[in-house]
Amino acid sequence: MAQRITIQLLLLLAWVAAVGGARTLTVRARTELLNVCMDAKHHKEKPGPEDKLHEQCRPWRKNACCSTNTSQEAHKDVSYLYNFDWNHCGEMAPACRRHFIQDTCLYECSPNLGPWIQQVDQSWRKERVLDVPLCKEDCEQWWKDCSTSYTCKSNWHKGWNWTSGSNKCPAGAACLSFHFYFPTPTDLCNEIWSHSYKVSNYRRGSGRCIQMWFDPAQGNPNEEVARFYAAAMSGAGPWAACPVLLSLGLLWLLS
Ligand SMILES: *[C@@H]1O[C@H](CO)[C@@H](O)[C@H](O)[C@H]1NC(C)=O
Ligand SMILES: *[C@@H]1O[C@H](CO)[C@@H](O)[C@H](O)[C@H]1NC(C)=O
Repeated sequence: MAQRITIQLLLLLAWVAAVGGARTLTVRARTELLNVCMDAKHHKEKPGPEDKLHEQCRPWRKNACCSTNTSQEAHKDVSYLYNFDWNHCGEMAPACRRHFIQDTCLYECSPNLGPWIQQVDQSWRKERVLDVPLCKEDCEQWWKDCSTSYTCKSNWHKGWNWTSGSNKCPAGAACLSFHFYFPTPTDLCNEIWSHSYKVSNYRRGSGRCIQMWFDPAQGNPNEEVARFYAAAMSGAGPWAACPVLLSLGLLWLLS
C-alpha cells in the first residue's frame, strides 16, 4: 500500500517536472532575438528589404518587418491597420501626429525589437513588446510636440468605446490637454501603450537605447542596441531551468 502511494507520488512529480520542462521550453522558444519580426497583426514573418516604404517609414527600407501597404496605412488617420483615430478629441496637431506615425513605423517595421518581444494572449496578436528602452530625447520631443493637442485617456490600448468602428472617448472621460493625462514625458511614453516603452536614461547615439527617429545614411543604430541587450539577457538563462531542478530535487528527497 505504502509502496503504491510512493509510486503514484513519483508519477505525479514526474508529470509536474515534465509540465515544468514544457513550460520552460515554450517560454524560451524565442531563441532568436536578433533580426526578427514579432507575431502580431500586420508584421511580415521575416524581415527583408522593402524599397518602396512610405515617407516616415523609409528609414527601415533596407530591412523591414512592414510591407509597403502597412507603411502607407501608418500615415493615415483611422487607417485599416487598427481603425485608430488620432483625432478623438479634435484634430491632433501635425507636429504631434508625426511622432505617432513614427511610433507606428517603429512598431510595424523594426526588426530590432526582439529582446523585448513577449507572448500575449490577445485576439489580435500573439506577441507584443514590453519595456523597449526608448531614447530619452525621442520621448521628450514627442511629449513637447503634443503639448497643444488633446486626449481623454492615458492608456490608449484599453477602455475605448468602439461601437462606431473606431475609438471614441468612453462616457465620463473628458477631452483635456495631453499634459493633463501625461504630466511628464515618461508618463506619455510608458503609459500610452501599456508599457511597450520604458523611457531610457540613455541618449540618442549611445548604442544603449532604441531610436524612433534615425538617419538611414548612417545605417540603423538600433541593430547595435538589440545586440547589446540580447547579449545581456542571455545571461539570465540558468533561471529557466528552475522548475525542472526543483522537481528533480523533490523526487530525490522522497526516494
Ligand atoms: C492595404 O491593404 C488593405 C487590405 O488588403 C486595403 O484595404 C488597403 O486599401 C491597402 N492600402 C493601400 C494604401 O494600398
Ligand atoms: C458608445 O458610443 C455610442 C455612439 O457611438 C453611444 O451610443 C453609446 O452610448 C456609447 N457607449 C458607452 C458605454 O459609452
